Amino acid sequence: MENGIKKSPSSDKMDCGMKKTPSSLFSITELDDFYFSHLSRTPRLNIERKISLDDCSISGNLRQVDSHESISPMGGLGHKAGFDTPRSISDNVFEPHPTVVAAWESLRKSMVYFRGQPVGTVAACDTATEEALNYDQVFVRDFVPSALAFLMNGEYDIVKNFLLKTLQLQSWEKKIDRFKLGEGVMPASFKVLHDSNRKTDTILADFGESAIGRVAPVDSGFWWIILLRAYTRSTGDSTLSETPDCQRGMQLVLSLCLSEGFDTFPTLLCTDGCCMIDRRMGIYGYPIEIQSLFFMALRCALVMIKPEGEGKELLECIVTRLHALSYHMRSYFWLDFQQLNVIYRYKTEEYSHTAVNKFNVIPDSIPDWLFDFMPNRGGYFIGNVSPSRMDFRWFALGNCVAILASLATPEQSLAIMDLIEERWEELVGEMPLKACFPAIDGHEWKTVTGCDPKNTRWSYHNGGSWPVLLWLLTAACIKTGRPHVAKKAIDLAEKRLLKDGWPEYYDGKLGRYIGKQSRKYQTWSVAGYLVAKMMLEDPSNLGMIALEEDRAIKPVIKRSSSWT
Ligand code: GLC
Repeated sequence: MENGIKKSPSSDKMDCGMKKTPSSLFSITELDDFYFSHLSRTPRLNIERKISLDDCSISGNLRQVDSHESISPMGGLGHKAGFDTPRSISDNVFEPHPTVVAAWESLRKSMVYFRGQPVGTVAACDTATEEALNYDQVFVRDFVPSALAFLMNGEYDIVKNFLLKTLQLQSWEKKIDRFKLGEGVMPASFKVLHDSNRKTDTILADFGESAIGRVAPVDSGFWWIILLRAYTRSTGDSTLSETPDCQRGMQLVLSLCLSEGFDTFPTLLCTDGCCMIDRRMGIYGYPIEIQSLFFMALRCALVMIKPEGEGKELLECIVTRLHALSYHMRSYFWLDFQQLNVIYRYKTEEYSHTAVNKFNVIPDSIPDWLFDFMPNRGGYFIGNVSPSRMDFRWFALGNCVAILASLATPEQSLAIMDLIEERWEELVGEMPLKACFPAIDGHEWKTVTGCDPKNTRWSYHNGGSWPVLLWLLTAACIKTGRPHVAKKAIDLAEKRLLKDGWPEYYDGKLGRYIGKQSRKYQTWSVAGYLVAKMMLEDPSNLGMIALEEDRAIKPVIKRSSSWT
């Protein structure tokens, strides 16, 4: 099926209402362009692959993402292992950890082929569970850690095929009942149907029209852009991202998010269940996961979109939005001890521009658990901010991605890590890492989840522990110069994952129990572990998935920092 380029996304929809300020545009793009191209030109020294942990354990210092970057003859981060010999096995002078060997085996078993070409990995290969539901599909978000593992191992084709296949799916007309979805929506997942009689393969995609709850995956398009950059960085081959199809794919995704409407905030308004947490969990509004991914996708697109034709205007919109978004997030989503105290003493019903309590948050709405949970040292981006509503829950994915994308200032990044270390038992416990903290229970659980029996307290999305998050934690640890923290988490996971058959999630306050309805042989649990291992072994891999702080986006935080 060809990706027929019908028409370019209408640029009037994307009028971001900015005054054109070319100087501010260049201040950001130049920086990233330099960062991007400079890395591709640096000659690669093989010896650099063997960076010891100590090299990046300067505690308290943010790691320079590109400080160990180097390229292969192809021009990317490069890899020397053969296709069948995973780098994390072949390069190791010591015996590979048995869990690593088993993980590669499982990852290979999960591969999905379309007309003979690998195009992705299924969500789970759990043969013991009778009903596959949609776990036999390739999920866009689930494939990201698989893709990173393959890229780190020098297996580029499957990632390229995946990017192209999902791009073709994006151009499908999507309908739920009689309602047509936006052109740019990327699928949540797709399934390859093999007809052995006719010897044909066909694809069935889901954009939310079959999903439980009928929610479109807002995160898919962002992950797609982030993965396109990771592929480009890893291979050094920018010809893919420069194709008209990829350029249009990015423009379509972003035009969905940058269009003008009734918004008074630069954050993205979403419905519940639109991301990794894909069931009703009270994350509707402006969930942190989406805001961090949105920010990261914007920054990735900034270095990939060509400044030609409509691309020029889009780039200007991106720059304007990045400034507003980082200001909003760093100011209003950030919470530490001092800020909690400020909110605790808020006056309400303030009108006009001089209001301190801009969103009219009522101090009585601060939940009791937060006063004990908040350490003197540390902070985090809270789950959601909207009128009179602050969701104070801590979410792992959003906070880790905020560090990787440099949405968090360097100080905030360190504070997020401080909090994880200070609240290790609550957030990591015996299995990294809680998707969110704390769990909701009782009447609150009833009203927030709609009595969801899968999301009971300390299970699944409601305070369950997800091994896939290990790769994000590891990447955040390396970026903040704390690889020893990642090592501690990986050691914990290594004790159980293989033995337990790679569960999707664990339950309980400490994450000790294999999840109630957890799948086994969940691919992203496998891939997340491999990526964490490979990143710790060779921290230069971080460059694929992390962005340096953009000095053009000024830190705006006015409040005192958590460590002063
Ligand atoms: C669950 C998760 C979702 C994931 C899917 C496939 O629905 O909540 O994030 O993509 O399973 O693994």
